[in-house]
Amino acid sequence: MISKSTIEQVFETARVEEVIGDFVQLKKSGSNFKGLSPFSDERSPSFMVSPVKQIWKDFSSGKGGNAVTFLMEHEHFTYPEAIKYLAKKYNIEIEETEQTDEQKQEANERESLYLVNEFAKQYFERILFKTDQGQAIGLSYFKERGFTNETIKLFNLGYSLDDWQAFTDEALKQGYQLEFLEKTGLSIVKTDKKFDRFKGRVMFPIHSMSGRILGFGGRILKADKKAAKYLNSPESEVYHKSKILYGIYHAKQSIAKEDNCYLVEGYTDVIQFYQTGIKNVVASSGTALTPEQIRLVNRLTNNITVLFDGDAAGIRASIRGIDLILEQGMNVRVCGFPEGEDPDSFAKKNTLDELTEYLNDNSKDFIQFKASLLVKEANNDPIKKAETIREIVNSIAKIPDQIKKEVYIQECSRIMDISEEVLFTTLAQLDKKTAQDSNKPYKTEQKAFQVVKPEVKAPKVDLQFELERKIIEILLLYGTETEDFEDLVLKETEEGELQLEPVTHNAKVFEKIYLDLQEDEMQFTNTNFKSLYYTIIDNLHQDPEFELKNFINRLDQELASDVTSILMNDERYRLHDWERKNIIPKEKLHSISQLVTQTILTLRCYLIDKKVSQYQSDTLRENANSRGILEDVKDYLGLKMLLSRKLGKVVGSKF
Ligand code: CTP
Ligand code: MN
Repeated sequence: MISKSTIEQVFETARVEEVIGDFVQLKKSGSNFKGLSPFSDERSPSFMVSPVKQIWKDFSSGKGGNAVTFLMEHEHFTYPEAIKYLAKKYNIEIEETEQTDEQKQEANERESLYLVNEFAKQYFERILFKTDQGQAIGLSYFKERGFTNETIKLFNLGYSLDDWQAFTDEALKQGYQLEFLEKTGLSIVKTDKKFDRFKGRVMFPIHSMSGRILGFGGRILKADKKAAKYLNSPESEVYHKSKILYGIYHAKQSIAKEDNCYLVEGYTDVIQFYQTGIKNVVASSGTALTPEQIRLVNRLTNNITVLFDGDAAGIRASIRGIDLILEQGMNVRVCGFPEGEDPDSFAKKNTLDELTEYLNDNSKDFIQFKASLLVKEANNDPIKKAETIREIVNSIAKIPDQIKKEVYIQECSRIMDISEEVLFTTLAQLDKKTAQDSNKPYKTEQKAFQVVKPEVKAPKVDLQFELERKIIEILLLYGTETEDFEDLVLKETEEGELQLEPVTHNAKVFEKIYLDLQEDEMQFTNTNFKSLYYTIIDNLHQDPEFELKNFINRLDQELASDVTSILMNDERYRLHDWERKNIIPKEKLHSISQLVTQTILTLRCYLIDKKVSQYQSDTLRENANSRGILEDVKDYLGLKMLLSRKLGKVVGSKF
């Protein structure tokens, strides 16, 4: 684990505008920076960075947060990856904690394997471009496949000399240890001899989500019946076949942006698609898809389109893996290619427009596709048809979302010409079985990967929402300030009349707010605001040194994003040049205490109005109790008048 002090140092050093500036072109705009949203395609900038608050907000997607959240959203880093990235950028030494000796050794070993892989990648690239054999055999092969130099360099393709130990010798000469050469599988060690595993093959390095080299695929060039066409790195501390998707590093940005991922089988399918201009594509590398691989995609999108080769075997093979994708709650579409074509050959022959059009025209929803395919196969055979129905309902049963399930049942009832009731009964039986199946961890795991959350959204003019948000904003910005609050307190004069008298008392802003709200038993209606309110109050209570920046950094992603939304709300109106609803007339406010008092009083007035109109509509409906209700209304209206007078004192005659 990275030590707390390293994390703190990273947060202290990192400047959000510098971090984001590496990915987004930012222009100064007042005290902020703005730019085009990196999360959507847009022409006018709605992406804001506040150097003062050290946060960012993307108004087109609703995302927001600090430097670390940006890296997690944009680069799809995990939290530790983001911290490590920042540490590297700012030359901060990473201090690890709580590691046992064993863990330390493992971490060191993994690092060594990565180092060896990185060296090998560069070595194979150099051989491809700089040696006669590399150019004559490797480079010309890639050219024949239609890959441009730019593509070859982007994917770090390379060539391994047709020599027994050219690579191994060079690596040893450069000081890499044989132990790690063997563990990565780049070298094969036999008692006293050493061999290059990928001898005479063109090389496809396999990148992790964050761009480190996990292993390699090597394709043979000679027609050799005995040798495998593709050879892959063996399993190691860093290469776990079941957790790898080829191309994910290059595709991640565009998968998130397009909100869809194309899944193909091979290395060359990925590269050819990418070169043609479809970049949201990854390959399972010829094996059946695993849950881990699906979860990698699931971090980026909920939608997957499986592309399969134009032969019957391809279709069958793809169908098998697909229930697994449904189980992860993803939406699956499928698309086949004409007989004899695979995604690579098809993309090579067609332009981007043609390819895009083909994919759009031929992608079908998986369940519909499976239903129509099986119905065709079953033809008029009633026994086969029954099997078919069970098989399709089986797929539907894997979908975690109830509403989606129902829609599919209706759809299948139509396609297969069978009543919905029968399908629902079959489904219910299957559901019962799945519920009994106790070891189904995917549901909770899936939750851990949900990165995108719904934004705190305001209905257009919702005064209560605005006021609740304002209170949170005040707490965040001025919570620890000590102010003189002038309040009007109801006193009885000597003549026995009630009269408002000003009383001044000194308090911290958050205490004042807390006590006032508590006094009226006022509750936040917006659940996000409510939980934020209690979190903030709690923090302010416990930490007299409360600092906004540290507070945001400690919050989990969801709350941090809410906080950013609130703090950046004013910027939003400035950004779009919208007329700000003049709920709180800023120019009239001279102090924080006024702002606090006024906001709370306005909220109280609003709540009374709401109560009164609720009573009024109640009275219209039932006459029985109307008398008591009218009494209550009178009380409320009296209170309202009192509050309005207080408000008037605070801000003049506005209310
Ligand atoms: N594969 C593998 N080992 C093999 C054959 C295939 O690992 N012996 C994996 C590779 O990742 C390959 C994918 O399965 O990219 C698809 O295999 P295939 O369809 O046979 O190859 P293509 O990608 O079409 O390769 P090429 O066009 O280079 O012949
Ligand atoms: Mn192919």
